[in-house]
Amino acid sequence: MSHVLTKSQPITVATLLNKKVAGEAISMVTCYDSAFGRIVEASTIDMVLVGDSLGNVLLGYDSTIPVTLEDMIHHTAAVTRVVKRPFVAADMPFMTYANRDDALRNAAKLMQLGGAHGVKLEGGEAICPQVAALVAAGIPVIGHLGLTPQSVHALSGYRVQAKEKSEQKRLLADAKALQDAGAFCVVLEMIPSQVAALVSKDLVVPTIGIGAGVGCDGQVLVMHDLLGFDASFNPKFLKKYADLNKIIGDSLSSFDKDVKLRKFPSPEHSFGG
Ligand code: KIV
Repeated sequence: MSHVLTKSQPITVATLLNKKVAGEAISMVTCYDSAFGRIVEASTIDMVLVGDSLGNVLLGYDSTIPVTLEDMIHHTAAVTRVVKRPFVAADMPFMTYANRDDALRNAAKLMQLGGAHGVKLEGGEAICPQVAALVAAGIPVIGHLGLTPQSVHALSGYRVQAKEKSEQKRLLADAKALQDAGAFCVVLEMIPSQVAALVSKDLVVPTIGIGAGVGCDGQVLVMHDLLGFDASFNPKFLKKYADLNKIIGDSLSSFDKDVKLRKFPSPEHSFGG
């Protein structure tokens, strides 16, 4: 039997660790529902993150802090009903992993009710006891360092992290602590490229960057950002691969015009008697 990976083989923790060893870049995208999930499933994307960014992207909050565990279970379940090939990680929302018991109970719900393959937690050394407990329970864990959006108020805004030498040392120590606690992957958000490249070289487990340069082992973007849903959101790290804001806006205008001119529905879109 051949062990060569094909597009239809499910991506596992082992696949992702092997990709790092082989020097193959890992692609990850956020996804929050089954409509986008079907498209991701048909693509060659390696990992899906049901991010708590759904608070900003779908629910209209101005941060991820109001997102609840119930929100995350609801959206994770919608994604995992259709996404079978990529590895699906779900974010543990704000204050749902403040101690080991909470982390275990809430991660179990994301896995059992949401169907997640693993969970992502924000933070470094301070959350390693929770990470170790989850890993001991058989739950794959992704760490998240640098700009950690659940701490936006403590960080005084969405800004580049680890610019100072002391912060860079802290970041590296946190990354190693997460790896030692059993995290199989670490997201690095908004940190200088050279720092992310150094961390990536030092770790055995893959790093996935967002605003962290090409030296990471993989890259993640928020689905709606890369598709250009919000014309006014243009951070430096974002590359827009489509302009859906314009495509959707133009489509709605055309529909509105057709309805008002009584051009829709035409006979071809109507039923005969
Ligand atoms: O919630 C999210 O979408 C994330 C990514 C930005 C990594 O955490």
